[in-house]
Amino acid sequence: MPRITINQDLCNKCNSCVEVCPAEIFASNKEDIPIFMDSIADEFCISCGHCVAICPKNAINHKNFQEGQVTPIKKELIPSSDQIKEILRSIRSIREFKDKPVEKELIEKIIDVARFAPSATNFQTTEYVVVQNKEVLTKIINLTYSYLAKMSKLLHNQIVSSLIRIVLPKNAKEIISYRQKFDRYVKAYKLGKDKILYNAPVLILFHADKKTPFADVNANLALHNAYVYCWSLGLGSFYTGFVVQASHYNTEIKRLVSISTSNKIYGGLAIGYPKVKYNKWVERKKPRIKWV
Ligand SMILES: Cc1cc2nc3c(=O)[nH]c(=O)nc-3n(C[C@H](O)[C@H](O)[C@H](O)COP(=O)(O)O)c2cc1C
Ligand code: SF4
Ligand code: SF4
Repeated sequence: MPRITINQDLCNKCNSCVEVCPAEIFASNKEDIPIFMDSIADEFCISCGHCVAICPKNAINHKNFQEGQVTPIKKELIPSSDQIKEILRSIRSIREFKDKPVEKELIEKIIDVARFAPSATNFQTTEYVVVQNKEVLTKIINLTYSYLAKMSKLLHNQIVSSLIRIVLPKNAKEIISYRQKFDRYVKAYKLGKDKILYNAPVLILFHADKKTPFADVNANLALHNAYVYCWSLGLGSFYTGFVVQASHYNTEIKRLVSISTSNKIYGGLAIGYPKVKYNKWVERKKPRIKWV
């Protein structure tokens, strides 16, 4: 079966498929039905679905987009630009959670939206681990604290801090200042406080094969979709950067959640029902823009 066929009876020769295909698999045929290069389709088509999504006559049959895989957009559900702007300014990292589990159906919905994020060459590389087991969450917290304690110890070492000053003179002050931050986390741990996941009942880890180009970016774009969608569901979430860093330092975190050694954790999102609700948004730094 060829990858793509154009139904000659349906095609209105609008050439939209020629315009949108990033792989240039369709070629304009003057006033006639576009030509598509079947010989290169298998090698170059990235299955982005732009052709089937743009075709006004449903004339394109793509073997990766069969019945039920192309859905008309419900225009009445698309928010205005003002609404989107207000949403994006309002969403905050939530670190205060109710002692209430998040329903499995909601977590499934969140991941279902995350997967629609853009990905390099449409590879859709991101994989997900949902951690809800309290014992596993506690182990992840402990391993992350232990990573922070080691980093703090390292930065307190005179030889290490001198080396940082020589190798990274511009950033040395900032890097070394992290030891105070790490110390505060270690102190919190000793007091029994969870400043790693803030008692969130769910942690989603976004991981992928570490050899795939842009796997890190893809994972974090998916994570941001999830972050925004969580808010729309009345859930709160925040990015668990320390867990991600700790997982790069100590493979035990990956082992705990059965992530293979060929994969790397690129993002973590702690999720729960928020205890707090913000009624104002606050300013950010003005953007540093260069117009060229
Ligand atoms: C990290 C990254 C790099 C990308 N680089 C390119 C690029 O160089 N050229 C391009 O045409 N599209 C690029 N894209 C867009 C992807 O091809 C696109 O996201 C994917 O095909 C899915 O299509 P969609 O974004 O329209 O849903 C990139 C996307 C990501 C996330
Ligand atoms: S799926 Fe994307 S890359 Fe493949 S033919 Fe259609 S538009 Fe081109
Ligand atoms: S987009 Fe559809 S209708 Fe338009 S030229 Fe391509 S196949 Fe024909």
